[in-house]
This record gives sequence, structure tokens and C-alpha cells, in this order.
Amino acid sequence: WTNPQAGHISPEQWPFQIAGIKQLQTVAERFPALLPDPKLSADDPVNRGFALFQKNCMACHRLNGAGDAQVGPDLNIPYNPPEYFSGDFLKRYIRDPQSLRRWPQAKMPAFAAGVLPDSESTWLVGYLKHMAGRKQQP
Ligand code: HEC
Repeated sequence: WTNPQAGHISPEQWPFQIAGIKQLQTVAERFPALLPDPKLSADDPVNRGFALFQKNCMACHRLNGAGDAQVGPDLNIPYNPPEYFSGDFLKRYIRDPQSLRRWPQAKMPAFAAGVLPDSESTWLVGYLKHMAGRKQQP
């Protein structure tokens, strides 16, 4: 807590308070609907994007109805953001949601370049685009 940068732990992984510790199965086991095409290699950019999604987005968003989150909208059903954000607007949204549409009670945090560099944001958007072709109804 005194030097958060040292552990390379992103803001979405910092607990506000620990009430208990539970060991769960992996995300892949619990939520197969989140998985990219199994034919892709482990270091494929889509799989890197999937890891970034788990680290930064899953705390608030579900995808294909899969996940525990209740805070933000599902990022694939009925539409996937790359299907309706044109150009680089999705990347701009992730960097600073309020730069696109502004309202006082918005909850989505901004992901600064120090937390999610441009290269990682490209992988993340690549994962979302890939999942647009793997929709499953919840
Ligand atoms: C702390 C919770 C939280 C986290 C973490 C979070 N979001 Fe969000 N997100 C929201 C909420 C809530 C909304 C609805 C708009 C609002 O209130 O800001 C939203 C909206 C969105 C939208 C807009 C959908 C639309 O059609 O307007 C996109 C796209 C999105 N989030 C993507 C992401 C991605 C990608 C990540 C991971 C890098 C992420 N979010 C992380 C809470 C979060």
C-alpha cells in the first residue's frame, strides 16, 4: 500500500478492504464464454488482450453475460463496443470516458497511460473485436 508501483498491481486490483479470502477456479474454468478461439497461441495479441481484460475490466463488466460484475454494461451483448465506436473513439473512451460524453454520476474510471499504455489498449480492443465474432447469449 505504501509503494503500489513496486508490485505492478493495477488500480483495479487494489482491494479497498479485505473481508475474507476465497480461492476460486480460474476465470477460464468459471466463465468459458469469455475465452478467445482456443486455436490462438498463448502469446497471440488476442490472448494478451484477454489477460488485460481480466486485470482491468472484469471487476465491473461482464462479457457474453459471463463474470461476476454488476457495475458496467456487458461488453458483447447485445453489441460489442468496436461495433459502434468508430475510429479511435473506443481507445479515447478507455483513456478518459468523460472526454466523449460527460455527466456527473459516471462511474467508469479513466485508464491513464501509466496503467494501460497505448500498446496494451490496442491488445484489449483487439480482444473485444475478436469476441464480437464469438457472441453467446447469456
Ligand atoms: C470501476 C468500474 C469499471 C471498470 C474497472 C471499467 N468500467 Fe467500463 N464502464 C463502467 C460503467 C459504470 C460504465 C457506464 C458508464 C459510466 O457510468 O461511466 C462503463 C462503460 C463502458 C463502456 C461504454 C459503453 C457504452 O456504450 O457507452 C465501455 C466501452 C467500457 N466501459 C469499457 C471498459 C473497458 C475496456 C474497461 C477495462 C479497461 C472498463 N470499461 C473498466 C465501469 C467500469
